[in-house]
This record gives sequence, structure tokens and C-alpha cells, in this order.
Amino acid sequence: MKIRLKLNGSWREFEISNDDTLLHVLRDELRLTGTKRGCGNGECGACTVILDGETVTSCLVLAASVDGSSITTIEGISPQRGLHPIQEGLVANGGVQCGFCTPGFVVSAYDFLSKRESFTMDELKRALSGNLCRCTGYKKIVEGVVAGAETMGKEIEND
Ligand code: FES
Ligand code: FES
Repeated sequence: MKIRLKLNGSWREFEISNDDTLLHVLRDELRLTGTKRGCGNGECGACTVILDGETVTSCLVLAASVDGSSITTIEGISPQRGLHPIQEGLVANGGVQCGFCTPGFVVSAYDFLSKRESFTMDELKRALSGNLCRCTGYKKIVEGVVAGAETMGKEIEND
């Protein structure tokens, strides 16, 4: 079947199979390999993308079910040159080691921060709780996202 997606701001039309996941279409058909396949069953968050304004684990989404939707992947967040402030914050604070989890964290953090001008640490940690990292421990990731948020002019409230 044929579907249309607004992908990182541009409409694209392409053929899929009925049982293709959105993750498969993004990575293997469209070569948007920033979105990672970790667990493949909704547990790790490595495959997180923004679907019509909400984060989803794309390994659990059937591509056929999102015809006509708007999708933002890490490629749509990261600028052509340089890094997004969230990415800069993660790098500067040691929040990236193997990097496999990083795109998912950046997408979740971007979605969270772009919807608010201020936040508490509890709210941020909850927003990142669907993303798993095997390398860093989470402290440096949270510190990195906070640094990115500050660069973006966001305010941190007391819990
Ligand atoms: S690959 Fe989708 S949640 Fe792990
Ligand atoms: S940096 Fe390796 S899994 Fe997070």
C-alpha cells in the first residue's frame, strides 16, 4: 500500500507492506538511521520519534496506521551543521558514551522542552523515563538536558 507522511517538515509518499513498523520504514526504507532499533518491543526508547506532536516508540507503530501524519525524527531536530543545544549539553556533560540511546533521549527531551517555558526536575525525569541507557547512568544525561534547556532559555522550577 501507499502512504503519505510529513517527515521532518516535507511530505513524502512511498510504498509499504501492511505489516511494516514505522521504525522499519524510517530506517530501512528511508535510510533515516538516526532512529535506533534497540529492544524492538517498546521497552528501551531508542526508536523514539514524535508522531503528530507526541512521542512514540516507532517499533510499536504500524506504518499503515500513520498515513497522513506528521513525524519528526532526530534528523529533523539536529541542525544541518553543528548540534542542537540538547545535543551540545549532552556532549559537554558526559551524557554520551556509546551513543546508541542518545537520539531517543534527544527526541524525548526536545518534545518535552519545546512544549514548555519552565519545568521541574521531577517533570524532566518523568519525561525521560521511557528511555534506557546502559552506559552513562542517568545523572549525566539529565545534567546534559538541563544544560541544553538553559541554552534554550527554559527556566527550572523547584520541585
Ligand atoms: S526499539 Fe523501540 S522501544 Fe526499544
Ligand atoms: S550511551 Fe550507551 S546506551 Fe546510552
